Amino acid sequence: MRIAIIGTGYVGLVTGACLADFGHVVTCVDKDPVKIEALLAGRMPIYEPGLEDLVARNVREARLSFTAELAPAVREADAVFVAVGTPSRRGDGHADLSYVYGAAREIAVAVAGFTVVVTKSTVPVGTGDEVERIIRETRPDADIAVVSNPEFLREGAAIEDFKRPDRIVIGIEDERARAVMAEVYRPLYLNQGPLLFTQRRTSELIKYAANAFLATKITFINEMADLCEKVGANVQDVAHGIGLDKRIGSKFLHAGPGFGGSCFPKDTLALMRTGQGHGVPLRLVEAVVGVNDARKTAMARKIVSAFDGDVSGRTIALLGLTFKPNTDDMRESPSIPIVYALLDKGARIRAYDPQGMDEARKVLGEVDYRSSAYDCIDGADAAVIVTEWDEFRALDLDRVKRLLAEPRIIDLRNIYRPEEMARRGFRYESVGRRAVNAGA
Ligand code: UDX
Repeated sequence: MRIAIIGTGYVGLVTGACLADFGHVVTCVDKDPVKIEALLAGRMPIYEPGLEDLVARNVREARLSFTAELAPAVREADAVFVAVGTPSRRGDGHADLSYVYGAAREIAVAVAGFTVVVTKSTVPVGTGDEVERIIRETRPDADIAVVSNPEFLREGAAIEDFKRPDRIVIGIEDERARAVMAEVYRPLYLNQGPLLFTQRRTSELIKYAANAFLATKITFINEMADLCEKVGANVQDVAHGIGLDKRIGSKFLHAGPGFGGSCFPKDTLALMRTGQGHGVPLRLVEAVVGVNDARKTAMARKIVSAFDGDVSGRTIALLGLTFKPNTDDMRESPSIPIVYALLDKGARIRAYDPQGMDEARKVLGEVDYRSSAYDCIDGADAAVIVTEWDEFRALDLDRVKRLLAEPRIIDLRNIYRPEEMARRGFRYESVGRRAVNAGA
């Protein structure tokens, strides 16, 4: 099967590499010639574990190629995946669909023979209808079926998620697309990977509903964490205690500094706008958006109060900047509002992140970047764990204590045990657990 992927961003590149690995002949297309050149030279535009090797192997075996020329790739394809960005539109939070519609117009001009056009980008309900309308308007003779096939990939685990999905959701309106999509995912299908065929609008909504539900779970446990701190309970035990109930499930119940990334913030906002636009206000989703936004600045206040309200002139060492570990992605990371709020209060900020410092430099203000965790905390008045990279779990805590000017740790990801930190002589605060103060 021949497949074209439009857009070599995160989703497009992972999808292209994995589909090539399934044995399909895949051409990844991007408008940006610099990006294509880098990919042809084997350089990845993003950090994702395993991706570079997967791309190299499939390029070598001639199943995967890159080009800036959309038309030839689309002309030859049995299925064309649209994996372009759908950022939040400035001002109103609706998803910006200009790239999706632009791709539809270009596909329309180039398409030849029966072709399935697959929307992989996260798009609001009804976008598939509009993509189909645009293609038919541009090329009334085009023989196409427009399908919705949302992705559920987690950054840092995207290849694993693609190859071992909980489910593959495919929204179709034209029965001919069913066989083509079953063939695209045949290796998974043969392994009983569940293919779920639905109507196209239903499939589009499943993606938003899944992300909003997960975002709600996180926000729920974050609010429980606030309550735990006030009443002297332990949020990790609360999460464990409720998560063992199979109806609730134990995943996505880690309290922290609020969700970030390229999906949850944007998708919850877009779903909220869709609801409002249809006269069905989604009050729960609206609350999640508001609570999560407020949480990120509340984390800066938590740090300030660990200094009894005054951080002016103090040096604060941030460990981790990305929105989660195993990525270099800074999008909507809690570290951004935290850094700006602390700078505003007169603190000096140092930071170390295993992968994210190049991206961080583009979005953060005055930060003193260090090349290791130990260098970052050396002489600082506090260390703050912002992202739970494994290397922070493995730090030599005796050395950490010796290096810090004051043995103060604010752990926004609960990666250490309070009792142990007290025993080691730290002033230690975490999220939704009792603060310990060895000095008191
Ligand atoms: C998410 C979805 O998981 C994925 O299915 C979708 O396709 C894209 O969005 P991603 O954004 O890569 O993936 O990361 P994820 O691991 O889901 O984490 C999202 C955010 O929630 C991060 O900021 C993370 O720190 C936070 N989170 C997650 C928590 O605070 N607590 C949790 O229990 C889980």
